[in-house]
Amino acid sequence: MGTDLDIILKKYKQGKREDLIPILQEIQEDHGYLSEEAIVKTGNFLGLSTTKIYGLATFYDKFRFIPSGKIQIKICHGTSCFLNGSQAVINKIKEETGIVAGQTSRDGNFSYEIVSCMGGCNNGPVMNVNGEYHTHIKPEQLPELIKKLKYVIDND
Ligand code: FES
Repeated sequence: MGTDLDIILKKYKQGKREDLIPILQEIQEDHGYLSEEAIVKTGNFLGLSTTKIYGLATFYDKFRFIPSGKIQIKICHGTSCFLNGSQAVINKIKEETGIVAGQTSRDGNFSYEIVSCMGGCNNGPVMNVNGEYHTHIKPEQLPELIKKLKYVIDND
């Protein structure tokens, strides 16, 4: 759920447009994504149109406009992981989940994002699933892993 939007906005000065990005960052950190309501309220607070906010926010690729999936996958595409074959892993994740990076599957089960380095460069490709690290990931491991994760969701 996250902290009430009004409580977050109260920490900032009304109409101070320079605070837009810090406000959106705080809301996303707290709520996990930027809902339409959050964009509208922030717009009213700062005197900015929602179109303008969407325009600015989509410029920074760290903002999400849909909630994350129950299973959140982060796959590293930093230099070492790339050299160790992360692209093939990313392609397989896309194939198995049917979504592209930054999206959430229709059933709300999966979302994944591509990140630049997770500090495990010697063990790449590195993948993080709901906070748990998987190292030396190979594309052929993905179908089984996704199947297991689906099973966990279905039996939760
Ligand atoms: S490049 Fe992937 S963990 Fe560093």
